[in-house]
Amino acid sequence: MQAILGAADAGLGILGNKLHDRLGETMTESLLFSPYTLRSKTFRNRLWVAPMAQYAAGTDGVPTDWHLAHLGGMARGGAGLVMTEACAVEPAGRLGPADTGIWNAEQASAWKRITRFISDMGAVPAIQLAHSGRKGCVSRRGVPLPPENGGWQTIAPSALAYEGLPEPHALTRTEIAALVDTFAAAARRSIDAGFEVVEIHAAHGYLINEFLSPLGNDRTDEYGGSFENRCRFLVEIVAAVRAAIPEDVPLFVRISATDWAEDGWTVHDSMELCRLLDGTGVDLMDISSGGMVAHQKITVGPGYQVPFARAVRSAGSIPVAAVGLITEAVQAEQILVDGGADVVMVGRQLLREPHWPYRAAVELRSELRWPAPYATARYRGSIP
Ligand SMILES: Cc1cc2nc3c(=O)[nH]c(=O)nc-3n(C[C@H](O)[C@H](O)[C@H](O)COP(=O)(O)O)c2cc1C
Repeated sequence: MQAILGAADAGLGILGNKLHDRLGETMTESLLFSPYTLRSKTFRNRLWVAPMAQYAAGTDGVPTDWHLAHLGGMARGGAGLVMTEACAVEPAGRLGPADTGIWNAEQASAWKRITRFISDMGAVPAIQLAHSGRKGCVSRRGVPLPPENGGWQTIAPSALAYEGLPEPHALTRTEIAALVDTFAAAARRSIDAGFEVVEIHAAHGYLINEFLSPLGNDRTDEYGGSFENRCRFLVEIVAAVRAAIPEDVPLFVRISATDWAEDGWTVHDSMELCRLLDGTGVDLMDISSGGMVAHQKITVGPGYQVPFARAVRSAGSIPVAAVGLITEAVQAEQILVDGGADVVMVGRQLLREPHWPYRAAVELRSELRWPAPYATARYRGSIP
């Protein structure tokens, strides 16, 4: 116990006087465990669950008991928001057959049981709306699925293949318009399913990201070429989704802040995009990176995407989430204290320890109420 607390205390020392005053002497709430409000939605804290594909859907994209246990467990674990995995807006928007979807009423009804439980646990249920674009139609190991095994023709802004995958069909303008409506219909269904936050997945080299990046888009019409043209598909989806969901439902956009590749999308582009989205009803930018091309050169380390979040945050007035190798309570707190982000999203650390928020709260000398059935196990002021 002392070792863990000692490490946390040592970490607190590097946070500077501001946090030291707040935590060391007065023992007031940390930023990480203070509530956060977007529109009329208040999150109990700023430690949120990042979207994570589970490859555990039943037939036809229907979420299963696995999703209830997985996402429900995260909500029980104390996170402020629990985001689904990339949830496909149409069948061809899945990466593979084991991905969940939100393109029909059966899926919405199955999600409802899950959103209800997440809400009952005090977390806000969020859905990530996604289309895999040219990276879809693959097995879990990334091998293209042949038609006889349920494979389909992938789509993209241009007939440019992702390295090792088949050439996608270049979308016509009519098909682009239909896809914008498809995202809006999925958003409407998400509300029926009880989701209280909608995130548009515009990152990781999937369909929307393929429009944004010059490495995926060589169109010569109004959806390609200039920066504004490449952003048009996303801007249209944002407008359609915003119009499809209630006023009080926050809308997030996840982007890859950089392609980590020559001639690709840059952090500067991400800052420009943030300015472009200002005033369109986007409430939070969720800042990830990479995934556009296989030859990307990523430098990974603790909090490696936080500088991107900070840059986008400074570009406009839209709040941002930082994600990526955030695994320590003190580290997460410091990101917020330093103004690197407004909230943090955590992925793998919460797979390892779904109840990690309770431990993190103790390390930051903050309060996080345990669910009543587990109350006998709660930390009593320190970690045993
Ligand atoms: C198993 C797994 C599945 C993931 N699936 C998604 C996904 O569906 N959508 C998405 O935007 N990011 C996805 N990610 C990326 C995470 O949201 C997150 O950005 C990344 O794991 C870095 O955060 P971490 O270091 O806290 O795990 C996935 C990551 C993991 C580990």
